[in-house]
Amino acid sequence: MHLLPKIPLGIEPGSSRKLKVVVTGSKGQLGTDLLLALDKSSHVETVGFDLHNVDITNRASLIEAFDAVRPDVVIHTAAYTAVDKAESEIDLAYKINAVGTRNIVEASSRYGSHLVYISTDYVFDGTSNVPYLEWDATNPQSVYGKSKLAGEMELRPTDTVVRTSWVCGQYGSNMVKTVLSLKDGVNELKFVNDQHGCPSFTSDLAVKLIEVGLNKLPGRFHITNQGPTNWYEFVKEILRLAGGDVSRVKAISTEELNPPRPAARPKYSVLDNCALRLMGLGPMPDWHDTLGKVIRNLV
Ligand SMILES: NC(=O)c1ccc[n+]([C@@H]2O[C@H](COP(=O)([O-])OP(=O)(O)OC[C@H]3O[C@@H](n4cnc5c(N)ncnc54)[C@H](OP(=O)(O)O)[C@@H]3O)[C@@H](O)[C@H]2O)c1
Repeated sequence: MHLLPKIPLGIEPGSSRKLKVVVTGSKGQLGTDLLLALDKSSHVETVGFDLHNVDITNRASLIEAFDAVRPDVVIHTAAYTAVDKAESEIDLAYKINAVGTRNIVEASSRYGSHLVYISTDYVFDGTSNVPYLEWDATNPQSVYGKSKLAGEMELRPTDTVVRTSWVCGQYGSNMVKTVLSLKDGVNELKFVNDQHGCPSFTSDLAVKLIEVGLNKLPGRFHITNQGPTNWYEFVKEILRLAGGDVSRVKAISTEELNPPRPAARPKYSVLDNCALRLMGLGPMPDWHDTLGKVIRNLV
């Protein structure tokens, strides 16, 4: 089934006008891959906003930046993402994730821009043992999760919410890069085996965000790579593919983490990519497939 037009909405066939797309958080791990993917499209002109040029918490300068670009589509990846630090920086987390998003919504409304907001599996409490649907009740257990849900609450009904999980890629900090940096050591590597989820690679996620964003599909989507795992199994696979000694990896429970993490993590946050499926849109690949490619690029 092919539901999407080949040319993005708002572009007349044969027209030389390009769709203007703003990516917030353009220097973050997801934003970097999004810009690279958007730059491949001849229909699109991309502008990156990041903290160094536009602070999304500064309403006046954000509106000024929108005025200069007048975007058709905004893919809003900028966020306060320090999950543990957020427990003691509550106002700052809400200022960026909730008020910053409010400012983006206001600016998008002025210029008729379609907005795609990136959210998280941390909006769920993790007490389920079956994958979460887009329509399941939320119950975040951390300041980060609550502040990201607050951002969702700022959106208009016509905007897109994309919830994703365990984001990794070639750029920025993430579990794959952490494990690769420990690959040649000799110490035991302890990782929890009681937190279950799906990794999401930025190179795959970028493609899906462009698909839903440029086609201005409204509503909530769960978008992750396919295949649930836990952190212990994920780390073992990273090390195995990188040629490291897998016997160094030991499974522990969340209760055994020393010191304990300030922010609660969902024990189970597998996101059913139900909306994509029901709309006839293809899933992202299995995470094993992309992990191999990312490791080959990094080692
Ligand atoms: N990482 C994950 O596992 C994960 C999981 C689920 C959902 N998500 C969501 O996915 C999105 C992308 O995550 P990511 O991992 O790519 O995050 P990231 O690497 O931390 O990037 C976030 C970007 O936002 C920028 N930023 C922070 N405050 C800003 C402000 N006030 N104004 C403008 N820009 C600001 C940051 O700039 P500085 O670096 O200069 O502060 C950074 O470049 C986020 O919305 C996140 O909540 C992430």
